[in-house]
Amino acid sequence: MKKKEEKSMEYAIKNINYENAQDWKKVSNVINAFFNSNALFSACDLNLFKFLDNQPNCTLSNIAKGLGLSIYSTRVLMLSITNTGLVEKEGDKYCNSSAASSLLVSESPNSLLSWVKYMQLISRESIGYYTQSLKDSTNRGNGFIESQNANSIYERFDEKIEFSSMFNNAMKSLSHNLVKPLIDIPEFKNISNLIDVGGGGGEVAVTLCQNYENLNVTILDKKNTCDMALENAKKHGLSLRIQCRPVDIINSTKWIPEQESSVLMSHFISFFEPDEIRKIYTIAKQYIKNNNKLFIWDTMSNDNETGDMTASRLSMYFLNTATGRGMAYPASEHIDILKSVGYTIDTIYDVDPIEHKLIVASVK
Ligand SMILES: C[S@@+](CC[C@H](N)C(=O)[O-])C[C@H]1O[C@@H](n2cnc3c(N)ncnc32)[C@H](O)[C@@H]1O
Repeated sequence: MKKKEEKSMEYAIKNINYENAQDWKKVSNVINAFFNSNALFSACDLNLFKFLDNQPNCTLSNIAKGLGLSIYSTRVLMLSITNTGLVEKEGDKYCNSSAASSLLVSESPNSLLSWVKYMQLISRESIGYYTQSLKDSTNRGNGFIESQNANSIYERFDEKIEFSSMFNNAMKSLSHNLVKPLIDIPEFKNISNLIDVGGGGGEVAVTLCQNYENLNVTILDKKNTCDMALENAKKHGLSLRIQCRPVDIINSTKWIPEQESSVLMSHFISFFEPDEIRKIYTIAKQYIKNNNKLFIWDTMSNDNETGDMTASRLSMYFLNTATGRGMAYPASEHIDILKSVGYTIDTIYDVDPIEHKLIVASVK
């Protein structure tokens, strides 16, 4: 510190005013945002976070040696990744931030590495087609996964097992983290049967069963995904409480034989257009009797549709990459549709930091 002060005494440092500085910064930050995600992808590819977790307080030359990179590459890597805030530097030593330790190290139970991989290999690959998708109002971004017949990315995944398992692993790591706010919701304590529409690999069902001891879950999803969910339930000793049924939700009017149940739609309903959502909410009503509830758990935009980041990103992904329809709708739109088909709204739980809302509704 002393040296720096002395050195700065050697010459004057003067600021020059730049008239457009604020505008420049605003635009430049947006233009360059993808460099940050690329810094993250490469840091994950090179196992930087795992390395720093095993050897905190490392110098640049230790990192270079550990990762097998030149000093020059390591300087650039560490400049780019400290700029994201995911790695911190004190003196000449580098350490993982707590976010990196918790979410970006493969051994962590909360690891998001498979999601990072999915975003790199699928979302980033496809998003260059966004302008064309906007012009054609459909998903032009998934053509890089070749297919004769399929349209949505999920149908394309079904034809290519490596993509399908990449998606399922990414979803599993996301769900594992994003289900946590649901583990202490009073309305779940009073129900014994839950239909989990588009329940995926069962991560949500497993966590709910582990936390609500009276709960039995029936997962509805595609055949391959149901098989994964059954495996997952077995792995957690929950085979007796988690069942699965392969159903095409959008093309059937009765999903399972009549039963009294609550219904959960977790990260599912935003895939669809408002007319389809209306249809899905209407079909769900036939199961929701007595004190049962409909639970909608999803990313939702703010009511003004000006953000936030996840709602914006997810909506671009739906239009350009996933299905060519759907978006992160504001909660107010779900509420309007629910009321129009005969629901009353009980409670809205807001988990602002992850831009998620849980809408709890009853049938009138
Ligand atoms: C984003 S994942 C959500 C998984 C889980 N509910 C969660 O919150 O983590 C959406 C799931 O919906 C399923 N899905 C999408 N369209 C479907 C349809 N028409 N019929 C059945 N399942 C569908 C997909 O296969 C996928 O597993």
